[in-house]
Amino acid sequence: MSDSPPRPTIGLLGQGRLGRTLARLLPERGHPVRIWRRGLPFPEVDVAWILVSDAGVAEVARALPVGPVVLHASGALGLDVLAPHLRAGSLHPLQSFPGPEVAIPPTQGVPAAIAGHPEARAVALQLARDLGFRPVDVPGDRRLYHAAAVMAGNFATALLDAASELLSAAGVPPEDAPAVLAPLALASIRQAAERGCAPALTGPFARGDAATVRGHLDAIEGAAPGLADLYRALGDRALSLLVERGMSSSDRAALRAAMAPGLTPDTAPMAPQAPLLPPDPPS
Ligand SMILES: NC(=O)c1ccc[n+]([C@@H]2O[C@H](COP(=O)([O-])OP(=O)(O)OC[C@H]3O[C@@H](n4cnc5c(N)ncnc54)[C@H](OP(=O)(O)O)[C@@H]3O)[C@@H](O)[C@H]2O)c1
Repeated sequence: MSDSPPRPTIGLLGQGRLGRTLARLLPERGHPVRIWRRGLPFPEVDVAWILVSDAGVAEVARALPVGPVVLHASGALGLDVLAPHLRAGSLHPLQSFPGPEVAIPPTQGVPAAIAGHPEARAVALQLARDLGFRPVDVPGDRRLYHAAAVMAGNFATALLDAASELLSAAGVPPEDAPAVLAPLALASIRQAAERGCAPALTGPFARGDAATVRGHLDAIEGAAPGLADLYRALGDRALSLLVERGMSSSDRAALRAAMAPGLTPDTAPMAPQAPLLPPDPPS
């Protein structure tokens, strides 16, 4: 027999994709749950987890009688939307839930951001652990947290799309391009997560190979000029990582010069101690 304390009763307020998924997962992990959806009276619970669409969270919080610890599951919303509840917090899984009829995605080891009043945070921590999530404390501005998630998730998709455009311009069928590039992208992300971003960076920037970088930009300006600024912006970020890693100032200057907009192979200035611009595009 287990001597662990009884688990709190969780009110799942909202029965959308996440609410319906949690209604399956939490009982399996020993949590009594009560379901609420629009039009029903609120159930008596220890913890009310508001799982309606982001736009409805404040309205449900205002209507909910004060008493239970109140959580929401939104990555984008602050905790002020849970007024008037003081023991308020958030548990936001960094995972996509399509609804249990479609799939119940894995939760084991998936990060989940927790925040809030100490009591709410403690509840969120326990729930996260019981569900198998890896809890991550995010006590600061939630807009920054959400922007980070959008950049890592949605913008990774946008970046793969941009890279696919270049690969298609190089002659690979457009429908094949994302799948051709994905193993490289996934391996790079895995390396960065395991070793840190600066140590994991490889390629022409890491080698200080300004001629190759200039060749990339010449080709991009010709075939997909709308992507040149994106290449430069991300190249700048790669340079910052390399500065962290101790890149020499001459290599850095050469790479910066190679990325300067509006240069042609004939007009680009030479950076100190670095032969920047070959007469022909690099192979
Ligand atoms: N699904 C995910 O992948 C995921 C992942 C992490 C976090 N979240 C968060 O989880 C929460 C729920 O997302 P979801 O994807 O499960 O939403 P969803 O599938 O779009 O369902 C939203 C549910 O909220 C209900 N609702 C909306 N406004 C309401 C209101 N004012 N009063 C009562 N019920 C209301 C809707 O009921 P009606 O149909 O009656 O309008 C619907 O059942 C959001 O905060 C979201 O950011 C979702």
